[in-house]
Amino acid sequence: MTKVLFVCLGNICRSPAANGIFNALINKNHLSGSIACDSCGTGNWHIGCLPDKRMREAGARHGYAFDHRARQFDPENDFKDFDLILTMDNENLRDVRALAGTAQDLAKIKLFTNFCNGDYANTLIVEDPYFSEKPDAFDAVIAHVENGCEGLLKFLTEKQA
Ligand code: 4NP
Repeated sequence: MTKVLFVCLGNICRSPAANGIFNALINKNHLSGSIACDSCGTGNWHIGCLPDKRMREAGARHGYAFDHRARQFDPENDFKDFDLILTMDNENLRDVRALAGTAQDLAKIKLFTNFCNGDYANTLIVEDPYFSEKPDAFDAVIAHVENGCEGLLKFLTEKQA
């Protein structure tokens, strides 16, 4: 079983979207026996909350039901339990790296955008939509995350083949 953890700041916008989108891809490809995922935030403000209403509404427009309950990154368990820890931006990357205890922990942490391709190949971060004034900020997260999740699935399935 390969386990992937998506990490953002609040765990109510980007990483629960990645979690829902990647789960949908796992199920569509009948891979739930070999790949699993979860998401969390570096911050603790929204623990127990559903994704932001704007993120859930954007999800629904694209055929997803985002129902993850927010939790905070748990260094005691998450480094042990997950094979890949994918952060949405550089601040998340820095914060999770600071919690790593070993070189093995550190090696699991990467930017999610490493798996993006095509139109998104050169993107470095998934922009935080929470305070964005762009009306399509949440739809943009979905398109960006769909692209990275497809690349991630390809990477994992080629690795396992
Ligand atoms: P996320 O977005 O990291 O994609 O879940 C945010 C959610 C909440 C806050 C910031 C970013 N906040 O400041 O509460």
